[in-house]
Amino acid sequence: MNVHFSSETNEWSTPQDFFDQLNKEFKFNLDPTSTKENAKCKKFFTEKDNGLEKSWDGFRVFCNPPYGREIGKWVKKGSESMGGVVVMLLPARTDTRYFHEYIYNKAEIRFLKGRLKFGGSKNSAPFPSMVIIFKKKSK
Ligand SMILES: C[S@@+](CC[C@H](N)C(=O)[O-])C[C@H]1O[C@@H](n2cnc3c(N)ncnc32)[C@H](O)[C@@H]1O
Repeated sequence: MNVHFSSETNEWSTPQDFFDQLNKEFKFNLDPTSTKENAKCKKFFTEKDNGLEKSWDGFRVFCNPPYGREIGKWVKKGSESMGGVVVMLLPARTDTRYFHEYIYNKAEIRFLKGRLKFGGSKNSAPFPSMVIIFKKKSK
């Protein structure tokens, strides 16, 4: 197995132009799932910080979470954060438990036409994507 390749594909970092478009609309100030290298905002949390354990309340969050088995925990966290806005870039998997529990009929959903090219890749992702918007909720 090519370890370098597989760790690269786990990152799925957001294409900068795609982020820039969303950022114009939402003016993000927190990226809770990142490395120092791929952080999209000045304020960010890395795996070492563990963005799941930090408060996102009151921030304008852009979150493209790790796409592993924990993805539902990130969506739950986004849905529960208060006082700001949480925008998540997710694989468009409408059969998942987290989609039905936290997103469907609860958040704004924007299904993307075509497929993103993550992390500067020449190839399109092997899955469709969606943008989810959890709007301001006050405490
Ligand atoms: C899909 S990538 C998105 C990267 C980048 N923020 C972006 O949007 O381009 C997910 C990132 O989450 C980081 N990550 C993994 N576990 C994390 C955790 N518990 N807390 C914060 N970041 C984590 C990974 O290192 C990876 O860089």
